[in-house]
Amino acid sequence: MALSILITASEAVPFAKSGGLADVVGSLPRFLRKLGHDVRVVIPRYYSIDRAKYALSLLPGILVVPMGTIGNEYCAVYEGRIPDSDIPVYFLEHEGYFGRKGLYDIDNVEFLDNDRRFVFLSKGSLELCKLIDFRPDVVHANDWHTAAIPLLLNTIYKADTHVGGAVSLLTIHNMQYQGSFPSSLMDILGVGWEQFTFLGVEKDNRVNLLKGGIYNANIITTVSEGYAAEIQTAAFGWGLEGVLKERSADLFGILNGVDYSEWAPETDDFIVANYSVQDPGGKSLCKADIQRIAGLPVAAEVPLIGVVSRMVKQKGIDCLAAALPYLLSLDLQIVMLGEGEPWAHFYFGGEAAKHPEKLAVVIGYDNTLSHKIEAGADFFLMPSAFEPCGLNQMYSMRYGTLPIVRATGGLDDSVDNFNEKELAGTGFKFSDLSPGALFDTVGWAIYTWYNRKNAMSRLMQNAMEKRFTWEDASIKYERLYRLAISRLRQ
Ligand code: ADP
Ligand code: GLC
Repeated sequence: MALSILITASEAVPFAKSGGLADVVGSLPRFLRKLGHDVRVVIPRYYSIDRAKYALSLLPGILVVPMGTIGNEYCAVYEGRIPDSDIPVYFLEHEGYFGRKGLYDIDNVEFLDNDRRFVFLSKGSLELCKLIDFRPDVVHANDWHTAAIPLLLNTIYKADTHVGGAVSLLTIHNMQYQGSFPSSLMDILGVGWEQFTFLGVEKDNRVNLLKGGIYNANIITTVSEGYAAEIQTAAFGWGLEGVLKERSADLFGILNGVDYSEWAPETDDFIVANYSVQDPGGKSLCKADIQRIAGLPVAAEVPLIGVVSRMVKQKGIDCLAAALPYLLSLDLQIVMLGEGEPWAHFYFGGEAAKHPEKLAVVIGYDNTLSHKIEAGADFFLMPSAFEPCGLNQMYSMRYGTLPIVRATGGLDDSVDNFNEKELAGTGFKFSDLSPGALFDTVGWAIYTWYNRKNAMSRLMQNAMEKRFTWEDASIKYERLYRLAISRLRQ
């Protein structure tokens, strides 16, 4: 039986993106649709989403969103499609909440009304079902922004004509961000203060939306099996490890897939030459291209390491900063693209100015450049402190760019460490989050590059043939939707 599925999130490719969450919300619906389901997506109509460019049309009617003691608030709803599909995307347009630059912050300063903005999105998504007369079997929420939904479904929407019968699935893409707000948010949530308990939405005398979601969702998933296990420990649970442990029977890990229609060296339009496992010649042209663009010496004989990352602690950027002077003593080049914490902009930018022959740093967000780095680099470095899934290591493999990763979460699950004896593996891994371990492992990779060309080509071939598909992932989600539904009906 085909299911009706409502997916709600704060971002989705191609409309609005700050990270991998948007990639997932842009891709998963397509593959659920291919399985025959009726999938609809809801996101905010941020100021940056151009209505004309995406041919959005205004739905008749006004969406009324009850915001507790604030009273009813109103918004317009625009409808569009996920490109090249018939999947409807509904955009909630509220000038006061979403008509501004930035998704969550401006210049790293969080908006003060993020609590209301995303409670509005959560409630608005449920109210929308009435407006469009949609009765979902499943509501699939993502991260803290829409984590209020399972709680809303279990309380004030329990008897709702349209969503009252739905099960909820909450996907956690990052435990660090939990949506923790002053307790006064309870009055806007309107679910009743009896929910403000240790076994509900309360944590440290504040409202913790993610915690409420974890307690109330029928099923909880995260984006790799490794991370699903890690977040049940104090090192990765950000204070919610106990709650996750309590719900461990309903907590599953599903590794994200890759959109290979965008990320494949055979067809990538952003790169200077296409290539494949059978015909890898174009990769050296891509390397020369990125070396030239980055202002590095165009040298085929020097290994080139790529980094494309948010420059934040999660990504191990501080560890990389500490290891950098040692890395720069090796015969290699590094090209780095990213933005994030201001100190990192200054530090890496400054080091690049001192070592122009070895290090190039581009501060900013640039999709074209990220494709060129994936294709042109020999290695791709991701020393993450934690990584729920991580997409760039998977992109890298497809381009024959060997990932050098810290063995955590999705990085550990998706990269097979180089096995010197059997010439097996798809990359290089280290365990300690320390500059020494990072340096040693880059050294190992570089040594292999200079001295074991046959091993390098085997690893590259292994990596290029490895696939992480949405076909697989979407079937796993479908199974969990059905599991939740069958439990409800028992
Ligand atoms: P996260 O969501 O934690 O940042 P992921 O690896 O899941 O990590 O996803 C990051 C996504 O954002 C990838 O698609 C990556 O290519 C992209 N990305 C990150 N930083 C940049 C940047 N500076 N320029 C272009 N793309 C970037
Ligand atoms: C988060 C995680 C990242 C994951 C992405 C998509 O941003 O940090 O590891 O790949 O979500 O699930």
